[in-house]
Amino acid sequence: MSDPTMSETDFESRVRDALTNPQNLGEMSDADAVGTVGNPECGDMVRMWLKFTEKDGRKVIDRASFQSFGCQTAIAVASMATEMLKGKTLAEAGALQSADLSAPLGPLPPMKIHCGEMVEGALRQALAAEAGAVPATAPKSNASTLLGDMHTPAATGKLRVVKLGEGAV
Ligand code: FES
Repeated sequence: MSDPTMSETDFESRVRDALTNPQNLGEMSDADAVGTVGNPECGDMVRMWLKFTEKDGRKVIDRASFQSFGCQTAIAVASMATEMLKGKTLAEAGALQSADLSAPLGPLPPMKIHCGEMVEGALRQALAAEAGAVPATAPKSNASTLLGDMHTPAATGKLRVVKLGEGAV
């Protein structure tokens, strides 16, 4: 559980620490599901890939990776979230909220809350795609990159746009 007394300086230093060695950064060529969100307010985007496996008769997340054109906070949260997701079932991963995903950083400053929500949104999109609830928001292959999607006219059709303050779906 996060420490409510943590100062902004502690937060900034934890973000810096996470950025010195970000985990699970990059596309996953053999992913089972992918989710992408963008925030029109800040222009940032996060994409998350998930790979599942069977363990003890349960379907669990084997690996997760991400790409982000976003602020340092989004990258730090995504790095921690992709580590946190390993071994989780669909239901367990789906129960995680942005505050859970960013907990190792401590409480996010108000201006940074949407950064965590973007990571949660990308996770939810990927989980929904895996569950068959919605079409995948990006190809499973590397044929389409996050950078490429940002600069194509069709980009908006592929992205789930999360508005500031809107709970990620
Ligand atoms: Fe937009 Fe962090 S400022 S994701």
